Amino acid sequence: MCGIVGYAGTSSRVADHGALDVLIEGLRRLEYRGYDSAGVAVVADGAVHSRKKAGKLVNLENEIADAPLPESMTGIGHTRWATHGGPSDGNAHPHLADGGKLAMIHNGIIENFAGIKAELLADGVSFLSETDTEVAAALLGRLYSTEANGDLTAAMQLAVQRLEGAFTLLAVHQDHPGVVVAARRNSPLVLGLGEGENFLGSDVSGFIDFTRRAVELGQDQIVTITPDTHSITDFNGNPAEGKEFTVDWDAASAEKGGFPSFMEKEIFDQPAAVADTLLGRSDADGRLTLDELRIAPEELAEISKIVVLACGTSAYAGSVAKYAIESWCRIPVEVELSHEFRYREPIVDEKTLIVSISQSGETMDTLMAVRYAKEQGAKTMSICNTNGSTIPRESDAVLYTHAGPEIAVASTKAFLAQITATYLLGLYLAQLRGNLFQGQIKDILADLGKIPSKIQDVLDRAGEIKELARSMADANSVLFLGRHVGYPVAMEGALKLKEIAYIHAEGFAAGELKHGPIALIDDGQPVFVVVPSQRGRDSLHSKVVSNIQEVRARGAKTLVIAEDGDNAVKDFAEWVFFVPETPTLLMPLLATVPLQIFACELASAKGYDVDQPRNLAKSVTVE
Ligand code: F6R
Repeated sequence: MCGIVGYAGTSSRVADHGALDVLIEGLRRLEYRGYDSAGVAVVADGAVHSRKKAGKLVNLENEIADAPLPESMTGIGHTRWATHGGPSDGNAHPHLADGGKLAMIHNGIIENFAGIKAELLADGVSFLSETDTEVAAALLGRLYSTEANGDLTAAMQLAVQRLEGAFTLLAVHQDHPGVVVAARRNSPLVLGLGEGENFLGSDVSGFIDFTRRAVELGQDQIVTITPDTHSITDFNGNPAEGKEFTVDWDAASAEKGGFPSFMEKEIFDQPAAVADTLLGRSDADGRLTLDELRIAPEELAEISKIVVLACGTSAYAGSVAKYAIESWCRIPVEVELSHEFRYREPIVDEKTLIVSISQSGETMDTLMAVRYAKEQGAKTMSICNTNGSTIPRESDAVLYTHAGPEIAVASTKAFLAQITATYLLGLYLAQLRGNLFQGQIKDILADLGKIPSKIQDVLDRAGEIKELARSMADANSVLFLGRHVGYPVAMEGALKLKEIAYIHAEGFAAGELKHGPIALIDDGQPVFVVVPSQRGRDSLHSKVVSNIQEVRARGAKTLVIAEDGDNAVKDFAEWVFFVPETPTLLMPLLATVPLQIFACELASAKGYDVDQPRNLAKSVTVE
């Protein structure tokens, strides 16, 4: 949600790009976060010059082509995902204040904006937009010219004292060419360090083309950049520090690599995402070595329950984890949507391990739920794909997934990497607590090690799924059924179809059918069924086969995902896709893939932009 870029450079040392090039390139890389308008402001010739436009970045570029901006080495850029006020040119950022001398961009929600606005209106300030951001800009402008005596950093320190909610704010002022001031509370902001130039971004993609040196900023910090300096303080002006790190993503891994969309590329990245997440986390004897965890093994061995907190796709990864961790470790695992957890009175204590799962590490609902759990004394562990993001930074422990940058809004490779990480956690806990023999752990790790090539087998047969998807481009509704770990896979299959193909889709626990959903079935209703392995629990397999028959008898078109050699399903399926044999608990890593390909191809066949579905943002940084 909302992408932010800031830049301060010097033309003498950095000849090949000006502020506008950096801002537009950064915004392009941040497009994946989801947005509905974009804008920039640069400082040049003793004035602030701004352009902004509703719609995609290309609209802003056309606007700039029609009304060019002067050359500049200082500027801020923004992609907006509407919260206060609809997506219009007027509500787009930057917002100007102090008689047009100051420009501000903002990510987040300022909860007490109405009171401040009333105060400023009473003082004679007028507003052009419906946004909370313009109120923050007006407040900053007012403080700049009064109490702060023309010091932009001091004005920012005063302004943030008045603001409640979540915000990253960036401001430039015509009296300070070469200076960008930023503040962050509960919203993401990373500093990029260059030679004779410095950058700010919502995440490192905002400046990855220009530098790999980055600094994580802490909560409630203000940073002021110039071409040669950066200074960090807390909201009271006391010196503070960030944590420097090197960005290990390269710009190329954020490119489409010949695929028609980022989503399809990321689906095909999945063998590597799983392999990289497994890499280096066990020794040759099958002993898990999760040294990075930061919680003492003795403490982990003593936990009495696990609560997984996550949203959307990441929550489905948590649901898969519940089956595996409970089976391997005999520890109760609850899975809860982060936003529901926080607003009841959950029972957690110091023996509870909170495992938050988040691709972005910035999902506000999850961040708030983690903070709440910490206050209750729980231990917190983050499974996260984004280095340096807020949730892992605020958690007691972190287990990074190594899926690489996920650009498409709909999550694919992060999901498989999250499931993989939860398996590692489950096996690690089983090792610590002695729930499994070392040989059993080694066998499961060996099965996991075979998963990347099995995913590749599925991908090699993508054509079969794509053909089905194209033939179903006119479907109005698709249902998905699964039992056991197949249930969260069914939910994820339905979510993918909803979010990118805008088709009504529901995932059900197959056992729930007769309790209501079977009434939805009539002639020709497409129903995907995820069938578990025939080996292991016989009853599980045969129950699902019965469910296929039940929906088929009522006219459903049955589309079945089953294991190689599962002859029992053939007679009841209109279409079958066989995935390689694998133990049931690991099957989500294979069975999800055809459903992702199905959604991606069907949405593409309908002509939709699968990377940036309507109304959705990659990173949901407001509650
Ligand atoms: C769906 C999707 C979302 C995210 C959810 C949580 O494809 O991407 O449902 O999974 O918004 O995001 P993270 O994992 O960043 O916390």
